[in-house]
Amino acid sequence: MPLFNVYPLYNVTPVSGKGVYVYDENNTEYLDLYGGHAVISIGHAHPKYVEAITNQVNQLGFYSNAIQNPLQTQLADRLETLSGCKDYELFLCNSGAEANENALKLASFKTEKSRVIAFKNGFHGRTSAAVAATDNKNIIAPINAQQKVTILNLNDIDAVKIELEKGDVCAVIVEFIQGVGGLDEATADFYEQLDLLCKENNTMLIADEVQSGYGRSGKFFAFQHYKVTPEIISIAKGMGNGFPIGGILIHPSIKAKFGMLGTTFGGNHLACAAGLSVLNVIEEQKLIDNVNEISCYFLKLAKTIPQIKKIKGKGLMLGLEFDFEVGDLRKKLIYDYHIFTGGAMNKKLLRILPPLTVRKDHINQFFEALVDALEEE
Ligand SMILES: Cc1ncc(COP(=O)(O)O)c(C=O)c1O
Repeated sequence: MPLFNVYPLYNVTPVSGKGVYVYDENNTEYLDLYGGHAVISIGHAHPKYVEAITNQVNQLGFYSNAIQNPLQTQLADRLETLSGCKDYELFLCNSGAEANENALKLASFKTEKSRVIAFKNGFHGRTSAAVAATDNKNIIAPINAQQKVTILNLNDIDAVKIELEKGDVCAVIVEFIQGVGGLDEATADFYEQLDLLCKENNTMLIADEVQSGYGRSGKFFAFQHYKVTPEIISIAKGMGNGFPIGGILIHPSIKAKFGMLGTTFGGNHLACAAGLSVLNVIEEQKLIDNVNEISCYFLKLAKTIPQIKKIKGKGLMLGLEFDFEVGDLRKKLIYDYHIFTGGAMNKKLLRILPPLTVRKDHINQFFEALVDALEEE
């Protein structure tokens, strides 16, 4: 049976990974500065992660959400400590889209309203309400287009105010650093006023931290660079280092009711074991400090390259903007220099999303290759 052909593929077949590198079937080494769409947080095949998952699958891989699962409580407690999000509650699911779907649903339950405000170039996933809130007409099917969503420009606080004052908006969903769209951010003033306007209008502020969370921005969450208190925070990618797990952190102002949200697989034993080991490694290896140190080093080197016209993003969620489309450069970096990087909706942007364990020598390897590749352009 052929695979449903929805992904344009690079001709590379990684079969193993270790730290910041993956290896193909001929044992060729590739430097992974993309982390499989920002998923690999603690590095490929981290020994503590492998051990935790192996032990758990040997003991109990899965049971449903109808029984006590102390691993979920442990994960919630560790997440509260490391994120600093005191008193929030945790609902576990399996992916970023599902996290946002549940976030939007919860906002609608809480406010009894149904319109959503989202932003230009935002990406929130491919399921029903999440894709409707995504600014990409090509991936919105007619069935999704039934949702009531208004897309506004980042930084246009007057437009936000006009829409919120209409009184029918259940949620504003925002990536504090845009991922797929191309690393755009609004100003601190915009984010802080947005938060206040949401509070004044009984609208839930949803921070989509699916990509920017778990230390990637240099703080545990990207919204923590600002004075804001989102009612709901959605998480996924870095949370499981490749194991499918997602979740939402829910402010205590939103009360749970039995049956309000639910999932078969979400929060299963194996996923929790993966999630716990990721948090342990982030703490033990002081990975958020590493993000900040390596980010500074990366920016210093990036500024020396004249072809780079703009550097965007924070921490290890970075974009290098050129004055040409980077598709061929990415191919050259993969095939000739064996380095993975990412693209964005902004075709002139090269995205850098390495594991949070990346070191200066990896960054040197990247810039040597980039300078070489640019000379050939
Ligand atoms: C900001 C953001 N939200 C949501 C998603 C959707 O996550 P998933 O692909 O796990 O459904 C993504 C995925 O790229 C994302 O970057």
